[in-house]
Amino acid sequence: DSSSPVTPLALGFAAVAKNKNDVVTVPEGYQVSILHALGDPMHYADSSWQNNGSETADSYNRRIGDGHDGMYYFGLTEDGKYDANRSDRGLLCVNHEYVVSPYVMHPAGRTAGAARVASEVEKEIYAHGVSVAEVKRSTGNDMTMVRGSKFNRRITSATEMTFSGPAKGNEWLKTKFSADGTKTRGTNNNCANGYTPWGTYLTCEENWLNVVGRAAGDNAKRVAKDVASLNRYGLTENRKNPYGWDTPGTDDLFARWTSSVVGATAADDYRNTANNFGWVVEIDPFNNTSVPAKRTALGRFNHEGAWPAPAVVGQPIVMYQGDDARNEYIYKFVSKALWDPKDVNGGLAAGAKYLDEGTLYVAKFSADGTGTWLELTFGKNGLDANNALFAFANQGDVVINTRLAADSLGATKMDRPEWGAVNPLNGEVYMTLTNNNSSNRVDPASTAALTGRQAKPDAANPRFYDDGEGNKSNPNGHIIRWKEDAGSVAATKFAWDIYLFGAENDAAANVNLSGLTAVNDFSSPDGLYFDHRGMLWIQTDDGAYTDVTNCMMLAAVPGKVGDGGKAIAVGGTQTIKGANATENTVRRFLVGPKDCEITGVVVTPDGKTMFCNVQHPGEDGTLANPNSAWPDTQTHAASTKRPRSATFVVTRKDGGTIAV
Ligand code: FEO
Ligand code: CA
Ligand code: CA
Ligand code: CA
Repeated sequence: DSSSPVTPLALGFAAVAKNKNDVVTVPEGYQVSILHALGDPMHYADSSWQNNGSETADSYNRRIGDGHDGMYYFGLTEDGKYDANRSDRGLLCVNHEYVVSPYVMHPAGRTAGAARVASEVEKEIYAHGVSVAEVKRSTGNDMTMVRGSKFNRRITSATEMTFSGPAKGNEWLKTKFSADGTKTRGTNNNCANGYTPWGTYLTCEENWLNVVGRAAGDNAKRVAKDVASLNRYGLTENRKNPYGWDTPGTDDLFARWTSSVVGATAADDYRNTANNFGWVVEIDPFNNTSVPAKRTALGRFNHEGAWPAPAVVGQPIVMYQGDDARNEYIYKFVSKALWDPKDVNGGLAAGAKYLDEGTLYVAKFSADGTGTWLELTFGKNGLDANNALFAFANQGDVVINTRLAADSLGATKMDRPEWGAVNPLNGEVYMTLTNNNSSNRVDPASTAALTGRQAKPDAANPRFYDDGEGNKSNPNGHIIRWKEDAGSVAATKFAWDIYLFGAENDAAANVNLSGLTAVNDFSSPDGLYFDHRGMLWIQTDDGAYTDVTNCMMLAAVPGKVGDGGKAIAVGGTQTIKGANATENTVRRFLVGPKDCEITGVVVTPDGKTMFCNVQHPGEDGTLANPNSAWPDTQTHAASTKRPRSATFVVTRKDGGTIAV
């Protein structure tokens, strides 16, 4: 039975050395193939990628998008249904986070000028979002995309979607596109992801500020509450749209990328565009005409992802979520409806049942190794019209302004929450805290008054050190984990420890707190995923170690909360329980090509095919000096082709199970 966990799970591959080569390096005995890359056609009517930026904007409605990030594999039956145990045929949903290297997509890079070229902006709008592609085993356990499959579909920054849950129809969601605040167009900056046990995909809107601007003088046209909300999410007035998507003209496709008051009412303009983003979007990959739904009950922030606990019959559906910005929070959503396996293949109707009603919580980590989930419900915990920080009028207000609600409850400011993952063997939850800097997590010895969102190190975010390379505070990041009280996903208390501290292996002992060596040292953990066997995969997005190595992915057998029981003195004042790494429990599995980030990973249920993503190879290059020619370098070492974000497939040459 391929679905049984291998017990005890052990790492059975030789570690890959850190390197700066322009290929994906995998262990001896493993092989890599490219599944799909930016611009590849999903249907037959469109030409193959020409390597010169000549693809039309419209064709990106049917081509693979840019900036591959979070993804998930759904097994597909002959009659087009979801089968969680099927490994040879499936639907692969991939996030296309952003246009990572504009020199790659356009003929000669982005055209300069105050007003951008409409066709270039249009192409970028269609290159964001999600791809749904049918994939099938070809040779052995390798997989290829089924070009022309009826399931192949692009969701873009122009695709119509609905709002559901407590903010549906809220005053602050009304736009010229949807005067009643029940619809919007587009999903953006889709970073990490999630999935549901009923077989739908969740894509999450993270750095949507990159495509939204706000006009000078806009504050004076709004009530104070409006301004407080926009400012808390970083959309201060006179903030230029970083991509200039609002510059080509007044057409609705472009005009909505400024969140500014222009007309008389919210139905006359796009003043509420900002509130249309930051959500979890549910997509039914099995129904190619379904209209995606923004599930507002799960809150609004720099939504990195939404990771489910394993579904248990008669228990609520639970999603763990992170807000990836410096000193933001970790959240949990608990559904009101209890899991009924009859809802498998229930599509977006099942989504409405489980994700539109429930309770949202934010995490507070205490120094004694316990934690509390604080409830973000209108009318409770002071979340009402009399709140000193923000006058909440209803639950729609609470979810649109999740950050302000969490502020007023005293949640713990974290070192940039990235991905979460739940161990299928014991239900424990892991989350990467990718890094932080000294302008946010300040020197514990400092006597200066804290300003803005600054915080001193605390038990859950304990580090402040100088890496000697110009980075201070927590440049290498860590991974926190917790265990819900009494093993109940709905618990409001938990126990936590720190699983792993990132570090360079030659760093001082008070920095390399987990005892990393050359076979497992890493920095800035980001992507995180437990496969079906309980093996943990850790991916990096690092600025602090890229002088030595390209970004990487490690495999780990993580144990459980409280393991090791190592007392670590932090800042001379606190003692943290944290685990030690050994070469048998954490090991480097692959290293990516130049200038990339490794993003997104999923393994088939039988453990034999792995999908993994490379985002922004050649990020620091130019058309003249591209730095990378990946993915073509994977097969042609001397390639001069343009670098592209892509999904690659890893299999074992002997047909065996990955990593064991
Ligand atoms: Fe798009 Fe938080 O990484
Ligand atoms: Ca990320
Ligand atoms: Ca990151
Ligand atoms: Ca990056």
